Amino acid sequence: MDKFRIIGGKQLKGGVAISGAKNSALPCLAASLLTSETVTLRNVPYVRDLITMRRLLEDLGCTVLVPELRTHQINAGTVENHEAPYELVKTMRASVLALGPLVGRFGQARVSLPGGCAIGQRPIDLHLMALAQMGAEIDLHSGVVEARASRLRGCDIEFETVTVTGTENVMMAAALADGVTRIMNAACEPEIVDLANLLTKMGAKIEGACTPTITITGVDHLGGADHTIIPDRIETGTFLVAAAMTRGELEITNCEPNHLHAVTGKLREAGVEIEQIAADKLRVTGNGKLRAADLTTAVYPGFPTDMQAQYMALMTQAEGGSVITETIFENRFMHASELMRLGAQMRIRGHSVDVHGPSHLTGAQLIASDLRASASLVLAGLAAEGETWIDRVYHIDRGYEKIEEKLRAVGAEIERVKT
Ligand code: UD1
Repeated sequence: MDKFRIIGGKQLKGGVAISGAKNSALPCLAASLLTSETVTLRNVPYVRDLITMRRLLEDLGCTVLVPELRTHQINAGTVENHEAPYELVKTMRASVLALGPLVGRFGQARVSLPGGCAIGQRPIDLHLMALAQMGAEIDLHSGVVEARASRLRGCDIEFETVTVTGTENVMMAAALADGVTRIMNAACEPEIVDLANLLTKMGAKIEGACTPTITITGVDHLGGADHTIIPDRIETGTFLVAAAMTRGELEITNCEPNHLHAVTGKLREAGVEIEQIAADKLRVTGNGKLRAADLTTAVYPGFPTDMQAQYMALMTQAEGGSVITETIFENRFMHASELMRLGAQMRIRGHSVDVHGPSHLTGAQLIASDLRASASLVLAGLAAEGETWIDRVYHIDRGYEKIEEKLRAVGAEIERVKT
């Protein structure tokens, strides 16, 4: 298992190019199951979860060509298998994104249940309820979901909780359904809009993506498309925090500042200087005094839960007390106890953590527990005095493209150690 060794205290300086959004590329790859024609996706990030999704598509019988590192040409014209096996689903919950397109196009799907996950229970009951409303027969046995329908029927679906992949699964299933589907209380994340844009290029009829009500009028057939994945807003936010925590200065390119208002707004409140210098470029300067600012995560356009851990790392360096409240997932503070091992002062109180800063962090041995938690440990390691070791970095490889290389290129002392 690979580890990171970080010598903290180096100011980051230079330029970083942001990769494509993992959470957008995943549903877009799954959407290619909806057609027998070729879907070309560009700017697909080279991260572990995308390799897993590619394997899943190949397992189902798709041909996936990768003519360049970040371009995928997917053809699902020869799909005969409709089952996403446990072996893949257990390593990546987003495998559940195969469910909607498989049942939408082939009228049948078998997907293993994702099972327990490090950041809470994360059930898929809302995905299943929606497909059942559309006329699918859902059968649950031995940890496997089986969905069958001769053809799904459009209907009104009101999600009781906003769910990102749930909204995506229904959008994909509804694209080939008979009639009109209205999703109410839909997720509004930029990744939903990106998926809607791809589906529209494929011939789907979708209105209202980026609003809480999405209307999809089913069509009989979808075709091929060529689509470029949006930039990763969480990777962008992580590098903004990296510059702030090391008192450095970074120019962040290939990003989409419009997707980051909640993050840049909160970081500015905390004293981080962020300037938009071009349509896809931000400059972040971290030489001012960092101030404590409370944070509550929320669905888009609120502050993303996927940036909560990184923000907590930042607050350990800010002057004063802050309260960080998590509202999306119930068990998403595993990084807090690891940050305390570096010397951070904080107290976990149910869904909130009180952070008292600034703390002098000193290097320690840490264990990464999930994707975003590991990013926060890397950030803290960059700011800590001395040597920090982070074990189980396979978590970070799921969603960050070569993070250690990108950090090293702007002055960080970080290396991957194979053990
Ligand atoms: C997606 C993102 C993930 C992000 C999360 C919240 C992808 C691949 N992953 O995950 O990075 O952290 O959105 O922004 O895009 N819920 C249910 N029943 C369901 C579905 C969800 O109770 O059937 C609950 C979840 O437990 C959670 C909340 O709804 O408390 C939101 O989860 P959801 O938006 O579905 O997260 P994901 O789509 O899995």
